[in-house]
Amino acid sequence: MLQVVIRDYEAKDFKDIVEIDAEAFSNRNPVYDAYVYITFGSDLIVADIGGKVVGYIALLDYGRDVKIISFAVKREFRGRGIGSKLLKTAIDRCKQRGRDRILLEVRVSNEVAQRLYKKNGFEIIDVIPNYYNDGEDAYLMVLNLREQ
Ligand SMILES: CC(C)(COP(=O)(O)OP(=O)(O)OC[C@H]1O[C@@H](n2cnc3c(N)ncnc32)[C@H](O)[C@@H]1OP(=O)(O)O)[C@@H](O)C(=O)NCCC(=O)NCCS
Repeated sequence: MLQVVIRDYEAKDFKDIVEIDAEAFSNRNPVYDAYVYITFGSDLIVADIGGKVVGYIALLDYGRDVKIISFAVKREFRGRGIGSKLLKTAIDRCKQRGRDRILLEVRVSNEVAQRLYKKNGFEIIDVIPNYYNDGEDAYLMVLNLREQ
């Protein structure tokens, strides 16, 4: 069985991140998105199988709060626990840094992601109307690290 290594982004991963982003999200410019995660994000944690990146989670660290700005796993590798590993690594990192909360937005229709977030302690705290380009609303979810 191929081993999944969770590690920080390296420059050679750029193409893989673009590919995963393009597949996971519609109505977006994946090259620009990958550039944003690398340039403006604080952390880009990747899941590597045999030197190929198959998933990533991108964070923006505001100091007390951290935002998950993107999170995706290549379709053919979903449902094998890779998303959970990436999310848990991100949560542990934020705890180690002494952050208060992790925030994220998720499409109201994205039940798979919401279930994963809830399983890891996130709660829905608000609805943001028309958040996405296609008019769909977002749930604002939060994990309070001080209560952990
Ligand atoms: C959300 C996402 C990153 C999860 O990655 P993953 O590697 O599949 O995650 P896991 O394998 O750890 O699975 C998480 C849970 O989702 C479930 N799941 C995964 N794929 C599923 C599917 N296609 N249908 C139903 N459930 C699914 C798993 O069974 C698991 O639940 P369980 O722990 O109760 O069994 C992945 O589905 C994805 O890339 N989705 C598209 C992009 C996206 O929506 N990102 C989040 C934006 S906020």
